[in-house]
Amino acid sequence: MTILVTGGAGYIGSHAAVELLNNGYDIVLLDNLSNSQIESINRIKELTGKDFPFYPIDLLNRGELETLFAKYDFKAVMHFAGLKAVGESVEIPLNYYHNNITGTINLCEVMAKYEVKKLVFSSSATVYGNPERVPIDESFPLSATNPYGRTKLMIEEILRDLYVSDSTWRIALLRYFNPIGAHESGRIGENPNGIPNNLMPYISQVAIGKREMLSVFGNDYETHDGTGVRDFIHVVDLVRGHLKALQYLENNEGIETFNLGTGTGYSVLDLINTFQSVTSQKIPYQFVERRAGDIGICFANPEKADKVLGWKAEKNLEEMCRDTWNWQRNNPNGYETSNDILLHEI
Ligand code: NAD
Ligand code: UFG
Repeated sequence: MTILVTGGAGYIGSHAAVELLNNGYDIVLLDNLSNSQIESINRIKELTGKDFPFYPIDLLNRGELETLFAKYDFKAVMHFAGLKAVGESVEIPLNYYHNNITGTINLCEVMAKYEVKKLVFSSSATVYGNPERVPIDESFPLSATNPYGRTKLMIEEILRDLYVSDSTWRIALLRYFNPIGAHESGRIGENPNGIPNNLMPYISQVAIGKREMLSVFGNDYETHDGTGVRDFIHVVDLVRGHLKALQYLENNEGIETFNLGTGTGYSVLDLINTFQSVTSQKIPYQFVERRAGDIGICFANPEKADKVLGWKAEKNLEEMCRDTWNWQRNNPNGYETSNDILLHEI
């Protein structure tokens, strides 16, 4: 069974590719490499001992997408491709709307044309906006506070409309909480461009000596230690949730939404302390003002995924820190290669 993985060279897509290959799926991987490096493809092959085609295609290029769908008999699509930096989305909103929304519409149009109607979509807990309470379940009201979040919300709505118009679609909307960690081999991991926006990559770059000090954004939230609380989830657990969702779509009709989180909130200081004790690296930090747009507490009620998909997160915060550090210290400068050499052409 061949699965198309869009955004498969990126952080989560590369881990999903490994999990799919290790579970006997064939894959075709597509990525325009706008936020990833081709070396990740080589690492996926090395880790799994399996070969697969990679296409450096942009979802905005409908003609190339059609050529790809004409060539392969895809059974389903895992759709990770998208731009994801919240701050950047405020600066260049049109790029975000165009890339994420038009890209998804192109993909769905071509899927419909070739009768490939099973889709697993990367949504985000950002669609809950500033939740009234925690834990957050799938029935909570939805809102978005920035263009990136609005692209996720709009795509969810577009996919719901698509299903209403044609009930032969089978769609899983997976709302990720805070994915961190890396494959335990340390061969693939998160490889941010420039200064990391997110907490865990910043911590690990401080640990490796690339950044001097972590700024902790706010210590006056209503949390157990005043710092923000999040539902950190190991990326390998997260991608296992995708395989469960795929199996679910094989057996069930409809469009369903699932939170992918652990159900436990840890604070910024909890994460720093755990990282320090697991890795024996010192993480100097200072408290600074809250970051605009941040919320205090966010963690999932993950019961629906447990009940319906038979999935729950298994890895703890120590494992998330250990695997992040293993990736970072083995790859202090990420994948360190250029994208000049392209592996396959259509
Ligand atoms: P990533 O940037 O590492 O991976 C996304 C990949 O998509 C990149 O390799 C990029 O080159 C590719 N891409 C972007 N636009 C494309 C286009 N038009 N055509 C082809 N390829 C394109 O990000 P990630 O962390 O792996 O996230 C994957 C998905 O999960 C994204 O949709 C993201 O919004 C979503 N998500 C991520 C997080 C997180 O914290 N990492 C949280 C919630 C949701
Ligand atoms: N933080 C710091 N210092 C930093 C970076 C982050 O103190 O240098 C704090 C933030 O204030 C927050 C926590 O660490 O309290 C987590 O911040 P992240 O940026 O790692 O994650 P967010 O929860 O803010 O956002 C992430 C993704 C969004 C996604 C959201 C919900 O970046 O794209 O989770 O899934 F929408």
